[in-house]
Amino acid sequence: MSKRRGKPPLIPQLGAHGLDDALHDYATEWSASEPEGLAALRRATWTQTVKPQMLCDELQGRILASVSQMVRPERVLELGTFTGYATACLSEGLAEHGRIDTVDIDDELHDLHDTHWPMLGCAGRVRRHIGKASDVLESGILFQQDDRQFDLVFIDADKANQRIYVDWAIDHVRDGGWILVDNVLWWGEVLRVAAGTSDDPQAVGIHELNAYVKSHPALDNLLLPLRDGLHMARRMPR
Ligand SMILES: C[S@@+](CC[C@H](N)C(=O)[O-])C[C@H]1O[C@@H](n2cnc3c(N)ncnc32)[C@H](O)[C@@H]1O
Repeated sequence: MSKRRGKPPLIPQLGAHGLDDALHDYATEWSASEPEGLAALRRATWTQTVKPQMLCDELQGRILASVSQMVRPERVLELGTFTGYATACLSEGLAEHGRIDTVDIDDELHDLHDTHWPMLGCAGRVRRHIGKASDVLESGILFQQDDRQFDLVFIDADKANQRIYVDWAIDHVRDGGWILVDNVLWWGEVLRVAAGTSDDPQAVGIHELNAYVKSHPALDNLLLPLRDGLHMARRMPR
């Protein structure tokens, strides 16, 4: 339990998710619809996994797909595969010979990937890695088959090691490439940390990470207040 001193800052428009739910729903409705294959994977995630809430929502999925379409990456790295929904979204803009490496500590969801990725057209373009993300990053395996730097890294695994992942990404993303970090608002708790009314360890770590990304000389950043917050940072030229 976190210790809270005093009341959180009053932000009247915040909804149940800590963000403005009505505007979020409006933006979802007036954005491109979720493709049917991804909707099927979403349904399977909700009916076949124990923590379906870890799945990114429709709007975030379309943002990841849009970023991928804009960057046209040769190489993408995802930390935190889960049911492979974001993996499929990130694969949408891959260049002709592009590949996506995705890492998860858990291998229990491979059947779901193996059912849905072929229908989503990305099965042959994904390299799956099992293990702690920090071990996989350290191992060098990501460069054994492919020595190209990454164009895009999406960090969505455990929150405790996010700083390690960001530092690794800064070293391994090409100049002008992108680093995306999910859950950087921690359902609004970062506001309380910033206001000095919460010392929730996860939220403190995330608030510190946001400050680190903003002040890092190798990064040009944008914190998008989408759902639980998506930090986007461009790797400046070396
Ligand atoms: C929020 S989910 C990822 C959601 C996915 N990116 C999506 O949006 O569809 C987080 C995933 O990180 C994995 N994970 C947790 N700790 C990890 C670690 N230390 N290394 C690698 N994966 C980890 C979990 O097993 C879980 O599948």
